[in-house]
Amino acid sequence: MVEATLNYLADMSERPTYYLYEPPPGTPWRNTKGDRRRLPIHDARDLASAPSLDEEGFALVRFETAVGNLWDAGAARSRYYREVEELVQGVTGATRVLAFDHNLRSATVAGRNVDGVQGPVRYAHNDYTERSAPQRVRDLLDAAEADALLRHRFAVINVWKPIRGPVRGAPLAVCDARTIQPPDLVPTDLRYEDRTGEVYSLRFSPSHRWFYFSSMRADEVMLLKCFDSESGRARFTAHSAFDDPTAPPDAAPRESIEVRTLAFFAPSSR
Ligand code: OGA
Ligand code: FE
Repeated sequence: MVEATLNYLADMSERPTYYLYEPPPGTPWRNTKGDRRRLPIHDARDLASAPSLDEEGFALVRFETAVGNLWDAGAARSRYYREVEELVQGVTGATRVLAFDHNLRSATVAGRNVDGVQGPVRYAHNDYTERSAPQRVRDLLDAAEADALLRHRFAVINVWKPIRGPVRGAPLAVCDARTIQPPDLVPTDLRYEDRTGEVYSLRFSPSHRWFYFSSMRADEVMLLKCFDSESGRARFTAHSAFDDPTAPPDAAPRESIEVRTLAFFAPSSR
């Protein structure tokens, strides 16, 4: 267990909004305030039984990629996406898995000079909402196919992998889905130039129980459930990068890749 600061959303009356491009004059980049809390973050490796996607909403899986250079967007898109789809299919029993998006992250400024590379996100959030998850299916597939698939269970699952291990600086913390109540999840707009996305920001509750996997290696992935259409299992799992105060000051900066996947299930699967 380590103790670290997590950044929640402070209560507000307006709808939380972030601009990801230069906002119109007079409009701030964001209208939110952080609610910083110092909290225990438990090492999920110490749990007596390993966490699962349907209970806690996250899981650790061994996974070796055959892709040599994940910084190469071309290879990442084609070969790495196929590998990730197979992995998610194997773990969840989904009948069809579609990898559709990824983010490369580096904790150094130099690393972020590479096109499209972003920093760790030190803000508790969940990538999809009750509304934006099915919307994503409609955006990605043609109307008839989306209609058919949305009649049955589907999930959005992120596959988060260190590019270099072990991760000591800025690891990823994840909140046990069973400790999150619906009012803790606050719909939040992400304004892009051409569209508005919706994520959940997390409002503090003393019930939340946070975990991370210590010193994650490059041959391990964390699966994160960001949406499940079916109740009775983990449906949303908030997560955030954090600074581990016990990390050595000269620890290698974190480098990671996360792939977002849609997992579709046959009508009777459970
Ligand atoms: C994610 C995510 C943040 C990070 O994988 O969805 O929010 O710092 N990652 O890796
Ligand atoms: Fe996220």
